[in-house]
Amino acid sequence: MNRKIIRRRTLAIISHPDAGKTTLTEKLLLYGGALALAGSVTSKKNQRATTSDWMELEKTRGISISSTVLQFDYNGYRFNLLDTPGHKDFSEDTYRVLMAVDSVIMVIDAAKGIEAQTVRLFEICKKRKIPIMTFINKLDRPAKAPFELIDQIEQVLGLKAFPVNWPIESGQNFKGIYDRMDKKVHLFDRMPGGTYKAPFSVHDITDPAFKNILNETSYENFIEEVNMLDYAHVEFNQEEVLSGDLTPVYFGSASNNFGIELILNGFLEHSNPPSARSTISGKLIATDSPIFSAFVFKIQTNMNPMHRDRMVFARICSGKFHRDLKVFQTRTGKEVRLSSAHNIFGNERETIDESFAGEIIGFVTNTDFKIGDTLSSDPTIVLERIPRFAPELFAKITNLNTSKYKAFRKGIDQLLAEDIVQPFQLDGHNDVIPLLGALGNLQFEVLQYRLKDEYGVDTRLELMPWTALRWINTAIDNEKLKSILPYGARLGKDDHNKQVIFFEDAWRCTMFKDKHQDIELLDFLIEF
Ligand code: G4P
Repeated sequence: MNRKIIRRRTLAIISHPDAGKTTLTEKLLLYGGALALAGSVTSKKNQRATTSDWMELEKTRGISISSTVLQFDYNGYRFNLLDTPGHKDFSEDTYRVLMAVDSVIMVIDAAKGIEAQTVRLFEICKKRKIPIMTFINKLDRPAKAPFELIDQIEQVLGLKAFPVNWPIESGQNFKGIYDRMDKKVHLFDRMPGGTYKAPFSVHDITDPAFKNILNETSYENFIEEVNMLDYAHVEFNQEEVLSGDLTPVYFGSASNNFGIELILNGFLEHSNPPSARSTISGKLIATDSPIFSAFVFKIQTNMNPMHRDRMVFARICSGKFHRDLKVFQTRTGKEVRLSSAHNIFGNERETIDESFAGEIIGFVTNTDFKIGDTLSSDPTIVLERIPRFAPELFAKITNLNTSKYKAFRKGIDQLLAEDIVQPFQLDGHNDVIPLLGALGNLQFEVLQYRLKDEYGVDTRLELMPWTALRWINTAIDNEKLKSILPYGARLGKDDHNKQVIFFEDAWRCTMFKDKHQDIELLDFLIEF
């Protein structure tokens, strides 16, 4: 079991939209032999018929919303690549995915450097101390100077950066990469369209075959840069990589297949296999423990229009999964048989017979699972919880076709079970259709789109005036609270009966906090 676990890598790619996450995903699949020909994932202009990108809305909007799992083998290792939603409105989903991975590849566009969404996603990784390998992409285009890019990682993200390799020129003149580890130059042939693996040749830095392709000044500049790196830059430290304090940096061009093998090999060398996970009591469960444990990080209904069922995704943390395994859903104490567990490749399903720590299993179930639920052979085990973030937009949703009420209710219930938006009740209300909270408007758009697409229901959304919500973490009488609420604020509760306050704006929320320091307000909630 241990031999298998140490050859697992469970990762996600994070990037600002358009930096090349999808292209890199596709190229990793190409190099991992999971795609015979690359070219299908990113061709947005043609039909975006993809493996990691299957929702109709994603196709039309050209963004990646849903998270799926892709699996491929490379050099004797099994990679589980989890897709993260690219849009900031889905940062909560991204957080959940990042709870389920052991390491991350951060893609940066060489012309743009660190962008807003990169910072946001990095912050999540930092909270979890996830090891990050950096891929600086699009070197075939005019790019910022490599030193400037390294500097940005250090200054903007506050992350030590160690360039494992270094680009040899950029834009039209991009020739390849110097690998600082083996001190060799990797020269690539351009592969228009990047459909096949790029041929490359490896040379010593003094090899005339390399020197001759650069003019004298370029060669001298290149040697000077390499020397500067050796003398002036950060020392490599694997411990710091594993604690998320230092990122090994790789340069390349995903669309031209430049540098894919180097990042893959580097990733294998510096990333970590699945490791012990913590329970809420702080106890660690070793990956090879005989106790099976896993947690749910995603629920997706109607994932495949062919099946129209609910798929629950869980990350295995310890023990061995086998077909028909009986486990406890430790939140409810219920025993559940995992009779139909699958590996998911895009929208393809394959039944799993056995599986280990680090793997993601998807199973079809009617049991009422919630994101964050622990599944374990030991009913006392509760794995570290997944936090829930305070929404910033609130809306009421109404069904427009009276005859479709049943479908509307079913759709709302199923989509709420996926945590696509969060349900609340205003104080004194007990509405059948709750008040909905989201981090961004796109979440509401997806909800309405899916209600229409999957349940045939037209809906109207009415935005509410609040833009901030806080959970109250202090026992306090409702009437007393009501008397001190600022203008426009309302009391309410979430679906776990936790008290919340809806504020009109963040400013009023801060004022309230300052004035009533004895009342603890939370902008995210872990215990539920
Ligand atoms: P994302 O998932 O991070 O949003 O980015 P995606 O891979 O979709 O890439 C965004 C655009 O950048 C795509 O162009 C893609 O082809 C291009 N791209 C990715 N890697 C490279 C690279 O190394 N060099 C260059 N020059 N371009 C790159 P598009 O025009 O939006 O789509 P397409 O028509 O090229 O498919």
